[in-house]
Amino acid sequence: MNILLTGGAGYIGSHTCVMLLEQGHDVIVVDNLCNSKVESLKRVEKITGKKIPFYQKDLCNLPSINEIFTQNSIDAVIHFAGLKSVAESVDQPLTYYQNNIDGTLVLCEAMQAHGVKHLVFSSSATVYGNPETVPIDENAPVGAFNPYGRSKLFIEEILSDLYVSDKSWNIALLRYFNPVGAHFSGLIGEDPFGRPNNLMPYVSQVAVGKLPELMVYGDDYDTPDGTGVRDYIHVMDLAKGHLKALEKLTSDPGLVIYNQGTGKGYSVLEMVTAFEKAAGKKIPYKIVGRRPGDIPTCYADPSSAEKELGWTALGY
Ligand code: NAD
Ligand code: UFG
Repeated sequence: MNILLTGGAGYIGSHTCVMLLEQGHDVIVVDNLCNSKVESLKRVEKITGKKIPFYQKDLCNLPSINEIFTQNSIDAVIHFAGLKSVAESVDQPLTYYQNNIDGTLVLCEAMQAHGVKHLVFSSSATVYGNPETVPIDENAPVGAFNPYGRSKLFIEEILSDLYVSDKSWNIALLRYFNPVGAHFSGLIGEDPFGRPNNLMPYVSQVAVGKLPELMVYGDDYDTPDGTGVRDYIHVMDLAKGHLKALEKLTSDPGLVIYNQGTGKGYSVLEMVTAFEKAAGKKIPYKIVGRRPGDIPTCYADPSSAEKELGWTALGY
C-alpha cells in the first residue's frame, strides 16, 4: 500500500514509518515540524535503506494537503499529526482545538475529494478520563477533562459522524496508552522539544545529566507503592498495531476502536527501578505533590485488538 503519514516525523510516526517500510509498504510523510525534526526521517531512511517523500506542510492548509493527494496515489492515511501536551492545552485551548480539529477536518475533506477512505487515527486512553474500573475496555464510558483530551474525543465523534454519513469509509480509532522506548538501532527515539512532560523522556534526560533529578508526582495514591500506575507500551509494538489496523481496514470493517496497551500496569517507581537496571545507573528522584489532572491508575484491556487484529503488545 501507499500510505500517507501525517505527523510522520514525530515520535510514534517515525517508528511506524520503519515498520511499514520494512513490511514492504511505501510511505509519504506530511509534517510541519512544529514538534519534530526532519533528521528523524533521514534516520528512518538510514535504517530501512528506502527514500521517504516528505512534505513540510501544515495540515490545516487545505490547498497544500489537496496537492499531496493530487501528486500521489494514496491508498490509506495514518493520522498522527497533533499537539499533545496536556498542560499546554490547558493554557492554550484554542490553539489545541484549532490545530487538532481543523487539521483533521482538512485531512478528511482532502481524502473525500480524492476518494481515499481508509483512515487510522491516533486517539488516546485520555478519552476514558478517570476510569471507574481497570482494566479499561473499549466500551468503558468516555469523558476527557482537559482540552487535549477533549480534542481527541471530539475527533473520534467527528470521524464516527463521517462514517455514519458515508459507510464506504473504513476508520480505525486507536486508543494508545503510554508509548515508551525506541527502535533497537538507537537512531530514532523520543526527542521532545523543551522540557519533557512525560515520565520516560524525563527519566532519560536525568540519566544523561541533562536534568538534575526526576520529580515523582505524588506517592499517596491508592496504588501498591502510592505512585501512579500506567500501561507502558513499546513504541515498536504500537507501530505494529498500526500495521495490523491497516490490514483490518482493507477487509472493510467500517468504524472500529481498539485499545493499544499491554494490559499490565506499572508504577512510577517500578519504571524508575527498571530503567536503573537497564541503564546501569541511579536515577535521582524526589517525591513532590500530585500533578493536577493526573489519575491514580490506568491500564488497558487489550483483548479486542488481540482477537480482531491478531495483535499483542508483547510481540515485537
Ligand atoms: P509528536 O509530537 O512526536 O508527533 C506529532 C507530529 O505531528 C510532530 O512531528 C508535529 O510536528 C506534527 N504536527 C503537529 N501539528 C501539525 C500540523 N498542524 N500539521 C502538520 N504536522 C503537525 O507526538 P507523538 O508522541 O508521536 O504522537 C503522535 C500522535 O499520537 C498525536 O496525535 C498524539 O496526540 C497521539 N498520542 C500520543 C501519546 C504519547 O504519549 N506519545 C499518547 C496518546 C496519543
Ligand atoms: N510522572 C512523574 N514525573 C514526571 C512525569 C510523569 O511522576 O516528570 C508520573 C505521572 O504522575 C504519571 C506517570 O508518571 O503517574 C505517567 O505520566 P506521563 O506524563 O508519562 O503520562 P500520562 O499517563 O499522564 O499521559 C500520557 C500522555 C497523554 C495520553 C495518556 C494516555 O501524556 O497524552 O498518556 O494514557 F493521553
